[in-house]
Amino acid sequence: MEAAMSEQSLSLPEAPVATPNTRKVFVKTYGCQMNVYDSERMTDALSKDGYEATEVLEEADLVLLNTCHIREKAAEKVYSELGRLRDMKKARARDGREMVIGVTGCVAQAEGKEILRRAPAVDLVIGPQTYHRLPEALRRAKGGERVVETDYAIEDKFEHLPAPEKAKTRARGVTAFLTVQEGCDKFCTFCVVPYTRGSEVSRPVAQIVAEAERLVEGGVREITLLGQNVNAWHGLGPDGTEWSLGDLLCRLAEIEGLARLRYTTSHPRDMDDRLVEAHRDLPKLMPYLHLPVQSGSDRILKAMNRRHTAAEYIALIERIRAVQPDLAISGDFIVGFPGETDEDFEDTMRLIEAVGYAQAFSFKYSIRPGTPGAEMGGHVDESVKSERLERLQALLFRQQREFAVGCIGKEIDLLLEKPGRMPGQLVGRSPWLQPVNVDAKGSEIGDIIRVRITDAGPNSLFAEAIG
Ligand code: SAH
Ligand code: SF4
Ligand code: F3S
Repeated sequence: MEAAMSEQSLSLPEAPVATPNTRKVFVKTYGCQMNVYDSERMTDALSKDGYEATEVLEEADLVLLNTCHIREKAAEKVYSELGRLRDMKKARARDGREMVIGVTGCVAQAEGKEILRRAPAVDLVIGPQTYHRLPEALRRAKGGERVVETDYAIEDKFEHLPAPEKAKTRARGVTAFLTVQEGCDKFCTFCVVPYTRGSEVSRPVAQIVAEAERLVEGGVREITLLGQNVNAWHGLGPDGTEWSLGDLLCRLAEIEGLARLRYTTSHPRDMDDRLVEAHRDLPKLMPYLHLPVQSGSDRILKAMNRRHTAAEYIALIERIRAVQPDLAISGDFIVGFPGETDEDFEDTMRLIEAVGYAQAFSFKYSIRPGTPGAEMGGHVDESVKSERLERLQALLFRQQREFAVGCIGKEIDLLLEKPGRMPGQLVGRSPWLQPVNVDAKGSEIGDIIRVRITDAGPNSLFAEAIG
């Protein structure tokens, strides 16, 4: 086995930083934003161990697949990828080069040892709560052991994972994710998350504020707070009182240099008054809310264990719109949950008409082993699911288009994020999360400029700088 990078540096103090022996890690991320955040933290932890991140699979000594278990397709994708990696690993072995393969994320947690059985090329399997043990697991794997770490760790992974590094933050851009809450206690009957991510844990206020400040020092202008149920976040404020997400947002809005705040994903049951007030009081809090509802039928909502009705959901949105009329709503929908009739589906279509979505994600129900939904009667035919999904998506797409076209003529603040296709052109984000192309000579990435929306394309808006 090769010696660890740190040992090499010890024995060869004169060696240049980028020796040909620098190890490289390639991380492929599936699933939600929390996996994106975790992939960055793992990369940071490994960089302390001498691994440099690479975007080129062929040059990687360590390949990590950070996986998603939410639907069957997502989970199966991992095995086809592992098949390809196995061939690559064999070819490498013939050249006497090593390649370590690790599976992390929600498939790792859900399937554990089973992955080693199905995919013999895999060297390590690590669940989402144990990433801080990755460097040690890697050393064991290099010693020839096939490592499985899926016990929920008692220690807080966030305390042990290194904070984002300034230089890396700068390279990652002007927007960043920050996980503030992880896990879920809701147990919707279709969903694997409570089993893969464990029960709800909130990070402490001081830890979150410190990380946010560090990100801003690294050049970040917009932070999106993440959690599977982000609005269930709670913590002890420095004033000794119990804080909810609204209080936390108020505190983060005080950070100088931070221009924008967002949060995702919210559960309709956990939108408290403080959070609604934050939408009224905090100009830095963007007028965009991802509030999944899954279905518009009370019968199905009950079977899904969502614990609210369609009318309650609509009333909640009206309550937030009353204080923030500019609010764009985004949602998630599932069609074909067990027992869903045509009438139930029409209820969902009516709810969509009543709400008016700016953005939405919709899925055919996928049976997940171990969830209560899998045991229910009345599974819906795939062909019926497909028909319903098509109708639902046509409606949602029409609404999305109406929302985009409705933006034409508006004057908005645009956070410039990256270069555009044409020279002098930059791409920014509107307050409602739409990409916007603008000719912005003299402006830089990270600037917030005033623009007027002039046109709406299928996936982005066009604008001209004003003022
Ligand atoms: N915590 C969020 C959702 C996280 S999962 C919430 O409470 O809404 C992201 C989305 O995946 C869900 O909103 C749901 O629409 C979809 N999803 C989850 N499990 C699914 C399944 N078994 N089949 C199809 N879609 C599913
Ligand atoms: Fe899954 Fe429901 Fe928890 Fe969302 S709230 S993560 S859908 S169990
Ligand atoms: Fe997928 Fe796990 Fe996120 S199942 S959606 S990666 S929490």
